[in-house]
Amino acid sequence: MSNLVAVLPGDGIGEEIIEQAVRVLSALKLDLQLEKADVGGRAYDVYGHPLPEHTLALAKKAKAVLFGAVGDWKYDTLPREFRPEQAILGLRKNLGLFANLRPAILYPQLANASTLKPEIVSGLDILIVRELTGDVYFGTPRGNRRVEEGPFKGEQEGFDTMRYAETEVRRIAHIAFQAAQKRQKKLCSVDKANVLETSQFWRHIMLEVAQEYPDVTLTHMYIDNAAMQLVRAPKAFDVIVTGNLFGDILSDEASMLTGSIGMLPSASLNASQQGLYEPSHGSAPDIAGKNLANPLATILSAAMMLRFSFQNEEAALRIEKAVAQVLEQGYRTPDIYEEGTTKVSTSEMGDAVIATLI
Ligand code: IPM
Ligand code: MN
Repeated sequence: MSNLVAVLPGDGIGEEIIEQAVRVLSALKLDLQLEKADVGGRAYDVYGHPLPEHTLALAKKAKAVLFGAVGDWKYDTLPREFRPEQAILGLRKNLGLFANLRPAILYPQLANASTLKPEIVSGLDILIVRELTGDVYFGTPRGNRRVEEGPFKGEQEGFDTMRYAETEVRRIAHIAFQAAQKRQKKLCSVDKANVLETSQFWRHIMLEVAQEYPDVTLTHMYIDNAAMQLVRAPKAFDVIVTGNLFGDILSDEASMLTGSIGMLPSASLNASQQGLYEPSHGSAPDIAGKNLANPLATILSAAMMLRFSFQNEEAALRIEKAVAQVLEQGYRTPDIYEEGTTKVSTSEMGDAVIATLI
């Protein structure tokens, strides 16, 4: 259905942050049909699976999924296939959400939130394009087996497979080049081509696709160096494109440059503009249910949803401007609070955004 949004709050602070995003969407009076379902640990508790069939079916028929967060310590001892994380991995795989866009933007009002010196990070605006359905995350074979030869012969070993097919690299390359075209036209592809076959192949395809985007400057960097350069001179980057595992690590690092992970949205897209939108942070069980969590990353994820899945740039900008304005007005949830600003709760932050929208 073209206006259907699957709303999946999940665990921990998921419910309260999603509630604020839903309120903001309602205030915009758009023609959206929102339908809620359980996912993650709470779905496991009720249905015995973190991604129950009816939740997956709803996500599949929806144009977009608005996702909160999953996970709680109490599920840490479950077998892997029942852990809350499997819900998000299952949604990515089943919906083919191969392109993960993770912006790291430092709002000028929050320049002191970063642990890095303000001059290193002020004005930071980078975009990480992470491939999301391939790589060692999903490669087969994987599992446990007996070592057949070498010094560890006879022991058990755990193993995974790092792999990328040409189409997988090509399509994420196009997404990244096109994103760079709309920005500073600089694309840095991150790999480990000095060691890994997968990375050599990745680099080869990146170079090929680059021919189609002569206006974008493509550079290559090894993952270890990229991790270093991100804290040394992060503003030298514009768009970073990388595989699933390296992207997982670099995007956490990049989010911390801003010092406010509670501010960062993300989008995971497939080829037909179906998307899953979620905050970059986790379920924060320690503060769940206390009306303390920062809902802005989720509210900004809803803006990305309007932009990418509903082609409603105007409504997306309305939300993004309102968020910038509430920061300017001094409203801060505890995670971004500093002296001289006004400390507000999760729901009060939602109120402030809504008041600013209208
Ligand atoms: C993320 C998360 C997930 C990942 C986990 C929860 C499976 O860390 O979205 O970055 O590793 O992709
Ligand atoms: Mn991660």
